[in-house]
Amino acid sequence: MACKQTSLLLAVAALAALAVCASAGSSYTRSPPRRSPPRMHAGPEPYGPPMTNAWLKMPANGRFRVLQVADVHYQNGANTTCQDILPEQNPCSDLNSTALLEAMIKKEQPNLVVFTGDNVWYPDNVDIVAAQTALTKPLNDAGIPYMLTFGNHDCEAEDCRSKLIEADMKQPYSLTVSGPKELHGKGNYAYTVMGPDGRAAFALYVMDGGAYLKTEFPGSYDFIHPDQVQWYNETSMALEKAAGRKVPGIAFTHIPMPEYDSAFVCNLPANTTGISIGTENDFGNKSKSGMGKVLANNCTFGSTTGVFQEGVYSANVNGGLFSAMALRGDIKMVNVGHDHVNDFCTPFYGIQLCYGGGFGYHAYGKAGWPRRARTMDLYANGTVHTYKTLDSWGAYAEIDHQSF
Ligand SMILES: *[C@@H]1O[C@H](CO)[C@@H](O)[C@H](O)[C@H]1NC(C)=O
Ligand SMILES: *[C@@H]1O[C@H](CO)[C@@H](O)[C@H](O)[C@H]1NC(C)=O
Ligand SMILES: *[C@@H]1O[C@H](CO)[C@@H](O)[C@H](O)[C@H]1NC(C)=O
Ligand SMILES: *[C@@H]1O[C@H](CO)[C@@H](O)[C@H](O)[C@H]1NC(C)=O
Ligand SMILES: *[C@@H]1O[C@H](CO)[C@@H](O)[C@H](O)[C@H]1NC(C)=O
Ligand SMILES: *[C@@H]1O[C@H](CO)[C@@H](O)[C@H](O)[C@H]1NC(C)=O
Ligand SMILES: *[C@@H]1O[C@H](CO)[C@@H](O)[C@H](O)[C@H]1NC(C)=O
Repeated sequence: MACKQTSLLLAVAALAALAVCASAGSSYTRSPPRRSPPRMHAGPEPYGPPMTNAWLKMPANGRFRVLQVADVHYQNGANTTCQDILPEQNPCSDLNSTALLEAMIKKEQPNLVVFTGDNVWYPDNVDIVAAQTALTKPLNDAGIPYMLTFGNHDCEAEDCRSKLIEADMKQPYSLTVSGPKELHGKGNYAYTVMGPDGRAAFALYVMDGGAYLKTEFPGSYDFIHPDQVQWYNETSMALEKAAGRKVPGIAFTHIPMPEYDSAFVCNLPANTTGISIGTENDFGNKSKSGMGKVLANNCTFGSTTGVFQEGVYSANVNGGLFSAMALRGDIKMVNVGHDHVNDFCTPFYGIQLCYGGGFGYHAYGKAGWPRRARTMDLYANGTVHTYKTLDSWGAYAEIDHQSF
């Protein structure tokens, strides 16, 4: 409690308090200090380094485990029906998504859970704040730190992001931060994960990918805006300056960047005959347009792990986040949701572009293709090990292990 109150003080005092709280060990018994690095004055002053938090510290075994939960679409609890399940999987409601979250926590024992948007389903929702609170309850009950950002369905017509984020920040185990208020969106923030030696081992960047670009680019999903790209760039540079080296980073947002599509297409094998990934509609046309790009650009960065079963529904235009990250050279992996039946990782100019795969039973999916979550194990030497855990009829099978 003492730590939480300090977040209301002035920046300098809060920074001092952060240092005190950060040294207090990794006990999960107190609310965390949360304060997004402020831009103190209007003008050219850069953003500061990511926040630190006593909970974001590698345990003695040197492995910090992050569980990504994508697209739960939580609505009205027991009253909400499920989509795309087998007949024998009824009765089914949001409570099945809660049961899955509890089972995943039990099996994976994550140090942190990240919800990558479309956490709740706005249309026809009686109370989105109540839905969000119900969704995160298993973590607040179990005492597992978590953070969230939004997708296009958390708030649609209504501008309810402030309401949702303020409600989440009151939860005892939430590390969510609204972020600098001059930026597009709510929920742009970064943390460092400290290694066992107390030095910054990894950085986690969370960015609000928005919903729809209504005025400037009608008909397009939203993108990470240039002001958010600049925030990432400056935060990353400030961390490098503070740490004395580039610190490897993982980025989380909801909507994939257009490069997900380019990367998948570049990494298609030369012979796509008999490839079982993809629906005819998506993959058939992709492979045709895509092969032109492969031949023209001769681009191959490695192989895709996981499946492509629907198009990459990114913005129609590019906000420049990927190129900024590739030029900075510190991001190892980007994790998005949005396209529920894609769950692949594909490498592109040094960055693994990954999907979490759909988690929620109220969200669309594919009957018989298990709902899933992605795990990332972060090691102090900069290695990421990732895989997915399936809701495979109580077995919770792990698939697609890979390290980079
Ligand atoms: C669920 O449905 C019942 C009966 O229609 C209704 O009384 C109740 O308010 C609903 N609960 C929620 C959370 O929507
Ligand atoms: C949902 O939970 C009910 C009750 O435990 C169970 O009968 C049903 O099979 C579950 N469905 C899914 C899709 O998990
Ligand atoms: C392409 O792959 C298919 C299916 O694996 C195989 O039958 C076919 O011989 C391959 N074609 C070439 C040219 O390698
Ligand atoms: C490709 O796109 C066209 C036009 O949208 C569509 O009619 C067709 O079904 C798609 N799939 C394939 C495999 O061509
Ligand atoms: C494509 O790139 C590979 C590897 O860089 C190279 O060996 C090959 O000659 C290139 N092919 C063409 C057509 O440029
Ligand atoms: C990142 O910051 C550097 C240094 O100020 C600048 O040269 C570069 O253009 C920036 N990149 C982006 C994408 O803003
Ligand atoms: C990093 O550490 C992990 C865990 O100890 C180990 O499995 C992996 O091989 C190491 N990677 C490198 C590049 O040293």
